[in-house]
Amino acid sequence: MIKKENSTLSKVTKIISTDSNYKDCAALDILTPLRTELLYEPEAFEPLATNLVQFIDPNRGMRNHALIIGSRGSGKTAIVDYLLTELKDNHNFDFERIYLNCRHLDNSYQIMRGILGETKKLPKYDIYGAFMKKLTQIKKKVIIVLDEVDLITDDTIFYSFTRDQDLRHVLLIMITKTPHFWDNLTADVKSSLSKEEFFFDSYDYNGIREILTKRAKIGLKSFDSLILLNIALATQNKAYGDIRVGIRVLDRIFRNPNYPQSQLNKQGRKEVPKKVMKEIEEMTEEEYFRLKEGVIRKLNETHLLILYFMLKTKRSNKAFKEFQKQAFTTVSKSNFLKQVNELRHLDLFYTLHHRHGRSTILDCTETIGEKNVKLVEELIKSKMLLKEDEN
Ligand SMILES: Nc1ncnc2c1ncn2[C@@H]1O[C@H](COP(=O)(O)OP(=O)(O)OP(=O)(O)O)[C@@H](O)[C@H]1O
Ligand SMILES: [Mg+2]
Repeated sequence: MIKKENSTLSKVTKIISTDSNYKDCAALDILTPLRTELLYEPEAFEPLATNLVQFIDPNRGMRNHALIIGSRGSGKTAIVDYLLTELKDNHNFDFERIYLNCRHLDNSYQIMRGILGETKKLPKYDIYGAFMKKLTQIKKKVIIVLDEVDLITDDTIFYSFTRDQDLRHVLLIMITKTPHFWDNLTADVKSSLSKEEFFFDSYDYNGIREILTKRAKIGLKSFDSLILLNIALATQNKAYGDIRVGIRVLDRIFRNPNYPQSQLNKQGRKEVPKKVMKEIEEMTEEEYFRLKEGVIRKLNETHLLILYFMLKTKRSNKAFKEFQKQAFTTVSKSNFLKQVNELRHLDLFYTLHHRHGRSTILDCTETIGEKNVKLVEELIKSKMLLKEDEN
């Protein structure tokens, strides 16, 4: 039998733990759930926590559905998940939680099927009946998180919450990047669905710096704080403030114990060498590119084509015309605009609305970087998605 200390696995583990600069590598992973010691500005989320407690506390039972509005990476998903886990595991509140992302389930019936865990196609009426039965059978309070809620195309599900007394034990947490979601609901739903709004601000330089510092202190054996400040700066300037990019760069730079150090200049002050600063900026751009590249490679062919024409023509009406002319499939104008909205949600571009007669036109500005614009063109070519090669 091989002695434990000589086994390959124990050698590898030893090398990893002595050679790496990690103390707790989960702190540098953007996908690990948030925990208290990583949380920046917990007091900013107290109003939301209060709203949730007022609902689940058996002695209070006040219900105001929560509408959370905030930009990309502002912590909407992570903080809701953190608060619900805390309330359940550390404060012993007894409730059922259900999480759904509306990107994959974009109408009320699909959401209801998602809540039911049903994969079979059922007639709408049966779905509604089964959905009501399932929720009314739960004898605890229920919290349903609808992430990216503005991708739902109808308001049937919200309507059922305004009318049905049997759903009084259910609270909705609706997460959206845009406040238009609420404005677009029918007047009837808006007036009867009582809700409280919570705004999550995007992080400025100080926020980014603080989040990174917390993660570095917990996750790493040692790190250079001047270099960390440069990572925060590059995240703000080169990655549109996307904190996920900052965390990835932090991980890449400091996981290696031989990471670059700041140097003393002639006056004896510490400064980051120009070369290192440039390297941080390049790495930030690269990580930002990678994050977006992952999203682009997962797009279906219609989305890819719509993205291509939006980037090329910079206007939704022109992009629609080109799409009809060049693509092998056709889509209605309203479906086209719905899909433009989905792409905007993925932060592949941002749009400015303006009216032209009776229709709305969206002007588009890319946020994916030059390299990714080229990648979109290459994918369109290699998948042969256009009727005739334009070049
Ligand atoms: N206050 C915070 N403290 C510590 N980490 C945070 C905080 N807010 C966000 N983060 C981290 O930032 C990353 C992005 O957060 P999250 O995914 O929740 O953003 P989001 O608002 O849901 O973005 P999107 O709209 O793109 O889905 C996560 O890794 C999360 O842990
Ligand atoms: Mg999210």
